[in-house]
Amino acid sequence: MDKHLAAVILAAGKGTRMKSALPKVLHPICGQPMLHYPLQAARQAGFERLCVVIGHQSERVREHFADSEIDWVEQREQLGTGHALMCAAESLAGFSGTLLLLCGDVPLLEGDTLESLLAFHRDEQAAVTVLTAEMPNPSGYGRIIREGEQVLKIVEEKDASEQQKRIGEINTGTYLFAAEFVFSALQNLNTDNAQGEYYLTDVVAAAAAAGKRVRGVCVNEPSEVMGINDRCQLAEAEAVMRWRLNSALMRDGVSMIDPTTVYVDAGVQVGADTVLHPNVQLRGKTRIGAGCIVETGVVVVDSSVADGCQLKAGSAIEEAQIGPTCKVGPMAHLRPGTVLTGNNKIGNFVETKKALLGEGSQSSHLTYIGDAEVGRNVNFGCGTITCNYDGAQKHQTTIEDDVFIGSDVQFVAPVKIGRNSLIGAGSTITKDVPADSLAISRAEQKNIEGWALRKKPKKS
Ligand code: UD1
Ligand code: CA
Repeated sequence: MDKHLAAVILAAGKGTRMKSALPKVLHPICGQPMLHYPLQAARQAGFERLCVVIGHQSERVREHFADSEIDWVEQREQLGTGHALMCAAESLAGFSGTLLLLCGDVPLLEGDTLESLLAFHRDEQAAVTVLTAEMPNPSGYGRIIREGEQVLKIVEEKDASEQQKRIGEINTGTYLFAAEFVFSALQNLNTDNAQGEYYLTDVVAAAAAAGKRVRGVCVNEPSEVMGINDRCQLAEAEAVMRWRLNSALMRDGVSMIDPTTVYVDAGVQVGADTVLHPNVQLRGKTRIGAGCIVETGVVVVDSSVADGCQLKAGSAIEEAQIGPTCKVGPMAHLRPGTVLTGNNKIGNFVETKKALLGEGSQSSHLTYIGDAEVGRNVNFGCGTITCNYDGAQKHQTTIEDDVFIGSDVQFVAPVKIGRNSLIGAGSTITKDVPADSLAISRAEQKNIEGWALRKKPKKS
């Protein structure tokens, strides 16, 4: 960890315009909470010491990032961006390196951009470097007032003169500060402005007035610094992020027939030569191997799929592990705890749950396999059901290798079927079946000849 770098991320704002019970920075973008992205960008640029200022529903925000090493700071009342940074002063006491300041609601900012900002800040030996942007419509943002290279001050929209409002270069709310300078300058802030807030931007004017170097670097891609205030912007950011994630996968050898309709969460892995058809969703901690085909309408959540699998149209797969060269679907439902060892076939309208299938076992249609351990090369006939639930408890079905199950069979669990047995079609199996047996449990067929003629005389 570079001891000379620390980042503060401001995330205490209420996010009123989201009109949500969920704190703004927890709204997901490609499966990750918004706040994940600025944290990731900071880390990528070498800032590993991270301090996040939270206010609104702070407990919920903390819980979400319980696994990350973050100093959480509470800002109980939102008195402005300057006040928010003041709240972090104690947590960073004694820190004298370079301080990065980011906003938790600016998720598209990239680590590379921060890296070049840091390089510039160091080269210039600046006290403050502001990341700026040229906006076609700058209204609402703070405007950058410059004299050549030197930034003199930042004027908020509400405090700006008509002439200042015509300036197109705006403050993105991303800064690098010499930490000692900024924490001492914060002590002199006042609320003497149109919004009655402590403006962090006033630190910029203070630095310039003290004769320090204040620089502004204009971002190449203005969409990177877009702030999220409402759900339209959230959807816009999601589209940008989706395109980034999908392009990265395509560059790594994944094919997408229509990448605008492929929804892959951040962190999902997909192997080369896998083809993703339109309207596919790969969510959470999913991993898809190489050379797979994922057809339209497939939703995979928190699952792993090995190489060479075919997931056919309309299948839903949750918390499942799928071994190599399996065929699943169309319209199959693999629920949590499903393990397909390899070369398995799970066809249409088959549902599995807490089910382990050995190599080569298959179930082609209309079956429920739940709470089951199934050996190798087992064939399920159409309409097989493991009756795993007695209304109070779940029970286990065990089926050993090479069992052949005829159509329309019920296994009333707990029950065990020995290897190489055959279960006759239409059987309800309530007792264990020894190996190498035929089990059949259905009423014998009776044919009553002439019955139809007697019951229903032919109409003349
Ligand atoms: C601020 C800048 C403005 C800049 C704009 C970029 C100031 C005074 N103005 O505007 O120049 O163009 O960002 O988006 O800094 N926050 C807190 N606590 C607070 C207030 C804000 O944590 O008391 C957080 C918000 O959650 C948000 C960030 O700070 O993540 C920016 O706040 P916001 O109100 O959006 O910025 P503005 O004041 O409008
Ligand atoms: Ca504001």
